[in-house]
Amino acid sequence: MIDRRSPNDKLLAVDASRVEDSAGGPIDLAIILGSGLSSALRDAFKHVSITYDTLLGMPVATLRGHAGEVLVGTWQGKRVAAFAGRVHLYQGFSPVQVTTGVRLAHAAGARMVILTNAAGSLRDDVRPGDIMMIADHINLTGRNPLIGWPHDNPFVDMADAYSARLRAIVKSVAKPEHRLREGIYAGLLGPNYETAAEANYLRTIGADAVGMSTVLEAIFARFLSMGVLGFSMITNVVAAAGLSHGDVTEQGAQTGPHLADLIGAFLKKI
Ligand code: HPA
Repeated sequence: MIDRRSPNDKLLAVDASRVEDSAGGPIDLAIILGSGLSSALRDAFKHVSITYDTLLGMPVATLRGHAGEVLVGTWQGKRVAAFAGRVHLYQGFSPVQVTTGVRLAHAAGARMVILTNAAGSLRDDVRPGDIMMIADHINLTGRNPLIGWPHDNPFVDMADAYSARLRAIVKSVAKPEHRLREGIYAGLLGPNYETAAEANYLRTIGADAVGMSTVLEAIFARFLSMGVLGFSMITNVVAAAGLSHGDVTEQGAQTGPHLADLIGAFLKKI
């Protein structure tokens, strides 16, 4: 068989052993951090930091001047690797590059991933500051990381992509102050925010929140048979006039500590 793995994929094994060494063994789960969650998680558990530019297979977004880092440590007795500094399709990265954190974590032992993001609400009863647990997604990016991936069976079952079992555990530990909701996340290519007509279209097809990440990582994680949880920190109402990236990151930073607390309660329970 032709080996079509990129050099980066082979280097990922080296990165994975670095993560395992730092964690003191194979990791239990990965957390992919959306805007606003990084600083909250830094305070949530004791960790060492591995910067992306010292990892061999990790794509680096230099746009914002810092490369990103993996926070590796033990949180509520679970060995965790939290990826701060996501790369997105809209930055020009390929679908496969976007899934690097998930693949690295899997190679380091993780069999579960928590995907987090900032998202806009399409629903009147889902407000900025709420946390929407992702019950399901609609991939509207038009991309797929499994295209061309060397494997006999890329036909992944996505029927229970966001594990109902894991979601039930989250619901059992959530407190009113977490403002936990549940709904469908639509993943778009971006980078522009939606028009009013697009917002109506998204509502019509059953989406409750919209963002520019998460769906490709969820697909690859399911391909790897990982358990998936997803959380959207609701930062704004979709297609409200005057929305800026600054508004999104500011609201994300306010919600971050609540989501960190909820994830901590979940980890304690599992
Ligand atoms: N649309 C798309 N992505 C987003 C939004 C939005 O309103 N808010 C945060 N990420």
